[in-house]
Amino acid sequence: MTMLDLLVRNTSEVLTVEGTHREAAEAALTPRPFACVGLRAGRVAYVGPESDLPADAIGPATEVVDAEGGFVGPGFVDPHTHLVFAGERSAEFDLRNQGATYLEIARAGGGIANTVRNTRAASEETLIQLALPRIERLLSFGVTTAEVKSGYGLSVEHELKMLRVVRRLGTHTPMELVPTLLCAHAVPEEYKGRREDYLELCIRDILPAVAREGLARFCDVFTEDSAFTVDESRRLLLAGRALGLVPRLHADQLTAMGASQLAAELGAASADHLEQITDEGIRALAAANVTACLVPTSTLFLRMRPYAPGRKLRDAGLNVALGTNVNPGSSMTENHALVLGLACLENGLSAAEAYWAATRGAAQCLGLQQHGRLAVGDAGDLVVFGCPSYRHLPYHLGINHARVVVKSGQVVHRARMSSCQ
Ligand code: NIG
Repeated sequence: MTMLDLLVRNTSEVLTVEGTHREAAEAALTPRPFACVGLRAGRVAYVGPESDLPADAIGPATEVVDAEGGFVGPGFVDPHTHLVFAGERSAEFDLRNQGATYLEIARAGGGIANTVRNTRAASEETLIQLALPRIERLLSFGVTTAEVKSGYGLSVEHELKMLRVVRRLGTHTPMELVPTLLCAHAVPEEYKGRREDYLELCIRDILPAVAREGLARFCDVFTEDSAFTVDESRRLLLAGRALGLVPRLHADQLTAMGASQLAAELGAASADHLEQITDEGIRALAAANVTACLVPTSTLFLRMRPYAPGRKLRDAGLNVALGTNVNPGSSMTENHALVLGLACLENGLSAAEAYWAATRGAAQCLGLQQHGRLAVGDAGDLVVFGCPSYRHLPYHLGINHARVVVKSGQVVHRARMSSCQ
């Protein structure tokens, strides 16, 4: 065996997450008690007992990480973020806590429009400097791949600017970023009363410009009373699909209006949020094998009820994914540990189902074949946790237990102190 670049030893167990979402999650996590993990050339080269490693696998150039009895799993994949933005909305947060609703604030010119004004005024350089600490915080929680949406530009110039920022961020951080075009996040203020003209702009100018520059993998739409109708969403997503952009939807977040059914009709990669999804919507997603991407910190942050029915979605046979939805309006947090906790407390998932949803489930949502899993040949993205079992993560609510984070075979984050139980 050629020498390993990195070896993680002395684990309680390694979760390789090699199963499928159709089997019991405990089994799908595929625990390998006391195994070690070897990485070479940025990929997984060995998982198994250290005693079975050939003598020549460890040499002077092998970096050895002592897991100190903690468990090891794949780097988390965050499949839903809006982490590129300027400005902040703490005043709106305060208003909501005193009774105002998200939609009332949006109708009064706040909400997404507020962040659009600030983001348009910011340069690419400023947006990069603002996004980097958010990415650092996600990395510190063990997230090694994150999807990032545009959607605070809402013009050709500024949507392209946001997506170029995402591309440039990729050279400033070890985090792998997957870009999504979300020009259909809201109808911008200057198109008030002219929504058809804005749709035209999206379809005729923004989508083709983004596709020409290869700036996005997905095309997303906020299908909602206050944003885009089901028919408008269909037109946009079909236009995007014709240009090679894979459809995703913000669906059934505030209003059940058939967005999940549209996601099923289009064979979308995911339907996200789903707090208000109906049984009919669940059946449609299940029949079309669409991933349900849940973002419970935004349900908490907006003080909404109910939470998305994670239990029902899993029981219907759906792949469930979990994301932070980092954004200034509905989820101003990079606390991935809190996402896992809420998924268990409020979405009704077991600890194993939540862990699946944050690793392999999320990777599947983004169409990433070799992420969120630690089989030989997969991406060398892993996390060493300061606790012996994944069950501890949602239980020790909102506490970060990631001790060492590895991306593509390189240590990219070390916690200052061992996470304590
Ligand atoms: O995913 N729901 C729409 N988009 C974001 C919120 C964006 C904002 O309020 O700035 C979300 O929750």
